Amino acid sequence: STTLRQLAPFPIGAAVNINLLKTRPAYLNVVKTEYNSVTAENAMKFGALHPSEAVYNWTDADYLVDFAQQNNARVHGHTLIWYKSLPGWVTSYQDSTATWENLMKTHIQTVVTHFKGKVAAWDVVNEAFEDDGQLRNSIWRQKLGDDYIARAFEYAHQANPAALLFYNDYGHEYSTTKRTAILSLVNSLKTRGVPIHGIGLQMHTSSNISNSNLATAITTAAQTGLKVHLAELDIAMNRDALTTATFTPALAAAQKDKYRAVVQAFKALPAAQRYGITTWNVGDADTWVRGYCSCPDWPLPFDENYQRKPAYDGIVEALQST
Ligand code: G3I
Repeated sequence: STTLRQLAPFPIGAAVNINLLKTRPAYLNVVKTEYNSVTAENAMKFGALHPSEAVYNWTDADYLVDFAQQNNARVHGHTLIWYKSLPGWVTSYQDSTATWENLMKTHIQTVVTHFKGKVAAWDVVNEAFEDDGQLRNSIWRQKLGDDYIARAFEYAHQANPAALLFYNDYGHEYSTTKRTAILSLVNSLKTRGVPIHGIGLQMHTSSNISNSNLATAITTAAQTGLKVHLAELDIAMNRDALTTATFTPALAAAQKDKYRAVVQAFKALPAAQRYGITTWNVGDADTWVRGYCSCPDWPLPFDENYQRKPAYDGIVEALQST
């Protein structure tokens, strides 16, 4: 039958867990047949790639890149500078500002250079804001000041001038304050001539966000003129974290409606700005949401057995609508 990558007029992808890709044939099959873009769920994060100062571990990330090349899929790089998933040697690094600057620059440039010609786009900075619109007081900000963000983009650009560089964050659809802060940062980077080409909306969203808030998040991001990536899409259906919740047909139908609305709003953007849509993993058994809420949830388009859910049909309906 027809698959998402055959239907979509823009790249459509999933975050991939390398272990599952290697060990679970049904997972591998869905990633191969449905998607033409992949993001490493964890394998390209700082702690995974750069576990000690002099050691880089490329094994898992290279495996994903090889897989993508064999399957004509794009690799989206996630993520160079984030406050989480840092190795202990970074969080305990005791040194001067100049040395910290060098640490950031070296990490960015080593990683971007390693994947040059293979990874054409990067989430350069991830989640620099708090929900109240203030800059998060991450270790990077503490050591390097607010403008670490701009310099991270400059360093990535130096290493690969052809790469598309993204700022990625969450909350556009539920916090106007945060959205405004993010959009004003990316607009000011653009105005200053900082090399930024895209904005990633993570879109870890849920049944209780209205379709109109979802659409506003997408259209206001596009008003920056940058490419837009729905970078980590999933739609949680148990935001009250009830441990007794079950995935009823009513929830499945509501979720289908949400997926359709998100994809429709994205599809309505100018083609040149549609970098793509990526769901955060593949099947409901694999989602980070279950660990986060310690509750049952079913946020993805495939079920625990990698069968298509109504959510999948909602995506298809949006892709097929005119
Ligand atoms: O691999 C180790 C394993 O060896 C160890 O035994 C185990 C014990 O905790 O941890 C494993 O690492 C975990 C890793 O996922 C792989 O499963 C980390 O603890 C855990 O923190 C990590 O969680 C990831 C999280 O980012 C933090 O990096 C999630 O899988 C991943 O889905 C999540 O993704 C983030 C995006 O990068 C950014 N936006 C939000 C999104 C959801 O939180």
